[in-house]
Amino acid sequence: MTSLVVDNIGTLLTNDPDAGAGATGVVRDAALVVDSGRVVWFGPRDDQPEGTDERVDAEGRAVIPGFVDSHAHLVFAGDRTGEFAARMAGKAYSAGGIASTVAATRAADEPSLGANLRALVAEALASGTTTIECKSGYGLTAFDEARSLQIASSATDEVTYLGAHLVPPEFAGRADDYVELVCGEMLDACAPFARWVDVFCDRGAFDRDQSRHVLEAGASRGLIPRIHANQLGPGPGVEVAVAVGAASADHCSYLSDSDVDALASSSTVATLLPAAEFSTRSPYPDARRLLAAGVTVALASDCNPGSSFTTSMPLCIALAVREMRMSPDEALWSATKGGAEALRRDDIGNLAVGARADFVLLRAPSHVHLAYRPGVQLVAAVWRQGKLCG
Ligand code: NIG
Ligand code: FE
Repeated sequence: MTSLVVDNIGTLLTNDPDAGAGATGVVRDAALVVDSGRVVWFGPRDDQPEGTDERVDAEGRAVIPGFVDSHAHLVFAGDRTGEFAARMAGKAYSAGGIASTVAATRAADEPSLGANLRALVAEALASGTTTIECKSGYGLTAFDEARSLQIASSATDEVTYLGAHLVPPEFAGRADDYVELVCGEMLDACAPFARWVDVFCDRGAFDRDQSRHVLEAGASRGLIPRIHANQLGPGPGVEVAVAVGAASADHCSYLSDSDVDALASSSTVATLLPAAEFSTRSPYPDARRLLAAGVTVALASDCNPGSSFTTSMPLCIALAVREMRMSPDEALWSATKGGAEALRRDDIGNLAVGARADFVLLRAPSHVHLAYRPGVQLVAAVWRQGKLCG
């Protein structure tokens, strides 16, 4: 692969704290040099090394790391337009809607599930997402969950086993029996295709003991825990996350003081999903309280057909800034480096020397425009592993 220099960058955000002002490592009037899919140099453009093969003129615009979307549910069929319309007319969101997507997903064939997944991944890429995590959770049989994970693996290397998304209708009233399946035969079928194990620990889904059992069973097979926690109300999700050393506790909309303290003294990232609150018309999580306590905060889309049908990380950033009072710098960091930390990756979400050359040229002089100009397509071009996409 030939080397590339992106020159004349007005604002370069590296997320390399050694590089410049603040955690986002900002360099003004910068250049970025890429070779063999990795960052090999960045700095003031006047100091750039000579002799690169290809040159891109950023025309004074901003370059940021590609977004790392660490929470998405992309293997499904059908949509839930009717449920959304009913919700906008006043009906509350509940976990129960998941069952209708489960029925549609079981009935769908592999090519159509794969095509839907690829379309969503392409949509995410067009809005700047260069890494996306993908969960199963709409199959809920050993066969359908393993099939979902195999399909997910064809589009991303961050694949999560979420057999414990909901107790499926055929196990109604027998939740513990279903948990045994999730931790037994279904785990056997799924473990080879996933890196992570997840559980929906909430009202209408799985309780403390069931959730812990699922995460520990997954961990015993080499899967790393992450969890849907405290989305619909207060509950034990965060406690379970910290007890099992989960990489991330996701949603965190209803937290007690002890939940916040537990997160602050752990390595578990709090992943906030403001597009879910936006789409379910629910109260946003208290990001400022988490940040003040020193918790590492990530932002992700939660793209799924029920509670958050968007792949747009710029939307999540705009909501985080406007509704959750994160600063534009905090929101940008959480949507890039924060997501990488939630996925325990140090090669993405930053543009330090040696990092993967996943980056976005904005049609704007700074990343602040992502919140300042909500709903506007500000992504001018995206590079993944040093290659221009699209
Ligand atoms: O993260 N909370 C559980 N899972 C999804 C919702 C899935 C659905 O409604 O289909 C979420 O919001
Ligand atoms: Fe989710």
